[in-house]
Amino acid sequence: DLNLKINDKGHVDIGGADATKLAEEYGTPLYVIDEDRIRDNYKRVFNAFTKYYPDFKILYACKANTNLSVMRILEEEGSCIDAVSPGEVFTSLKTGFSPDRILFTGNNVTNDELRYIDETGVRINLDSVSQLKRLAEIVDPEGYKISFRVNPMVGAGHHEHCITGGEMSKFGIKESEAVEVYKLAKSMGFEPVGMHTHIGSGILDPEPFKLATTVLMDIAGKVSQEANIGFEFLDLGGGLGIPYEPEENLLDIDPFAEEITGIFKSKLSEYGMDGANKPSMYIEPGRYLVGDASVLLTRVNTVKNSYRKFIGVDSGFNTLLRPAMYGSYHHIVVANKANKTDEISENETKLEKVDVAGNVCESGDLFARDRPLPIIEEGDLLSIMNAGAYSFSMASQYNSRPRPAEILVKDGKSEIIRERETYDDLFKNQIIPKRLEN
Ligand code: LLP
Repeated sequence: DLNLKINDKGHVDIGGADATKLAEEYGTPLYVIDEDRIRDNYKRVFNAFTKYYPDFKILYACKANTNLSVMRILEEEGSCIDAVSPGEVFTSLKTGFSPDRILFTGNNVTNDELRYIDETGVRINLDSVSQLKRLAEIVDPEGYKISFRVNPMVGAGHHEHCITGGEMSKFGIKESEAVEVYKLAKSMGFEPVGMHTHIGSGILDPEPFKLATTVLMDIAGKVSQEANIGFEFLDLGGGLGIPYEPEENLLDIDPFAEEITGIFKSKLSEYGMDGANKPSMYIEPGRYLVGDASVLLTRVNTVKNSYRKFIGVDSGFNTLLRPAMYGSYHHIVVANKANKTDEISENETKLEKVDVAGNVCESGDLFARDRPLPIIEEGDLLSIMNAGAYSFSMASQYNSRPRPAEILVKDGKSEIIRERETYDDLFKNQIIPKRLEN
């Protein structure tokens, strides 16, 4: 169930544009973003949830993709922002999000960062008692609105690194201490108005979300009663997965929204929080909004028959880290022979299992191992799918390779939205001491 479109020439189509033409025009490696897919993804989530709970906000977890145009698109759609660093706050403000649409959820935040967050006027979600106490020295706590991230002891995710709830997690305050911490914040003069949790990333199964929602609502209910807090919002975090493998299904958002809002509403009434000032519901999807809206186009330059068959391309884990970092599967389509990709069932011999290897000097630099693909020749163009989330945003210049260009496609028309870096960009900010100059 992937967002794969193939045009009548048998080429990959992105937003009405032919991938092979884009690669010729802009060069490779190239990130191609489909504007309408982002808008559709946003609307699908927004409409599903507001149908059952109108007082609902989407906070786009912009760490997934902070490209300015992507941010602008989501700003236009009416999204709010989950920002995890001062840089993300800065980026959000720059792209037109007003401070009241931004929630800062940092981890291991410095005093300077707290000062910056305070100056910008964005809302702050605290991760520790340490942060609370240090904030009290930086701002006047009297009536200052805050919220806390709570560890619900429920965690899930596509990889161990992406599970953020449970005993091993560095995030949030302990659920057993929540009442105490909210009381402490109040006694310092703060006005705690929200509670937040986030259990992990890349989750296709609704069950952990249902459990985490139940747990968060129970904690919030207890805090509301025992610490006498009137919640303005309860934030269920992000983590909504997308299918990366063709046989995986899209998270069916409407029944999902119905179930989550159902738990939310029944818990509000159980704890008497369903009066006139009911809390807003927030969620923080990143991947779900942008993940399937982009592909990475990369050109095959080498076909090598060694102990294994290697298909060598012009990008690597410097460009797209997820396969190397998490062993993540990204579906690969030969963009100029896309109609041949599914011939495995018709005729096994038309596909062969290959390793798709990047150009970084490390053995772990593989986009795929033993992947059945149509016979690939040098010069073919690969489309690595689902490269919209945690892809460019995790790219680096490792091996002194400039980062690639990004283009935006709408109605078949493409525009460059990030220039390809140049070699000079590799030296930006470096200073050679006088005595070393030649
Ligand atoms: N909210 C908070 C507090 C988060 O830490 C995250 C993601 C999100 C929301 C959004 O999660 P999403 O809806 O995108 O799953 N680099 C990894 C993913 C790391 C996610 C970090 N936090 C990957 O490539 O899979």
